[in-house]
Amino acid sequence: MASTSEFKFNLDGIKIRRCSIEDIAGVISVNRRTLPENYSTSLFLAMLRNFGSIFFVAVDLQNDEVIGYCMNKLEFDAKSFFERNRKVTKGHVFSIGVLPDYRRRGIASALMVVSMRHMFKLNASEVFLEVRVSNIPAQNLYHKLGFEVVARVANYYADGEDAYVMAIPRSKVDSLVEELYLRLKKINALEIYEDL
Ligand SMILES: CC(C)(COP(=O)(O)OP(=O)(O)OC[C@H]1O[C@@H](n2cnc3c(N)ncnc32)[C@H](O)[C@@H]1OP(=O)(O)O)[C@@H](O)C(=O)NCCC(=O)NCCS
Repeated sequence: MASTSEFKFNLDGIKIRRCSIEDIAGVISVNRRTLPENYSTSLFLAMLRNFGSIFFVAVDLQNDEVIGYCMNKLEFDAKSFFERNRKVTKGHVFSIGVLPDYRRRGIASALMVVSMRHMFKLNASEVFLEVRVSNIPAQNLYHKLGFEVVARVANYYADGEDAYVMAIPRSKVDSLVEELYLRLKKINALEIYEDL
């Protein structure tokens, strides 16, 4: 896990907020341009309906366009990665992408911090995700936030590539997430209603 000082947010002109129905076309467009896993419109709408409070977008304020997103879900009564024989609520980072022109500015890190913060608020005690074994940029992003590989799933992706499952317990990352969330607030990068 990196220290907070290793996170540089260069988010001038970018705002992070919850996804709304009007953003879905933009999210789908970013998804198509950044990932081979392209879900149906109804999947995105179902995620918005069921987990809208933990579905975030990054928007370029110049044209009000979605340039990144992080779509998450909660899994209840699920087997813990870290505590034997324990059932917990897990946060699942289902899909994240940032358009190529906007990368290496801390936007995905910010989306992850915001997502984790709000999944923790909804009682997730662990967060996990799947990532292609060949996707080094994404693995670096998750390692920087303290995630570690907990499993490898053979043939996870449609083209036959394996996935790493990466996960982190809340206790390990809570203070990093809180500190970075406060920083994002201070630099006015967030437009998020807290009462949800
Ligand atoms: C992975 C992705 C979301 C990162 O978005 P981003 O906004 O550029 O990420 P950040 O700027 O927050 O980068 C955070 C850290 O991730 C790592 N990282 C990001 N891009 C990287 C790259 N091209 N090469 C190596 N490490 C990289 C670095 O450790 C980086 O920290 P640093 O810039 O201080 O070195 C983006 O590249 C993307 O959309 N990729 C295609 C979709 C995808 O792979 N999604 C994840 C599926 S599991």
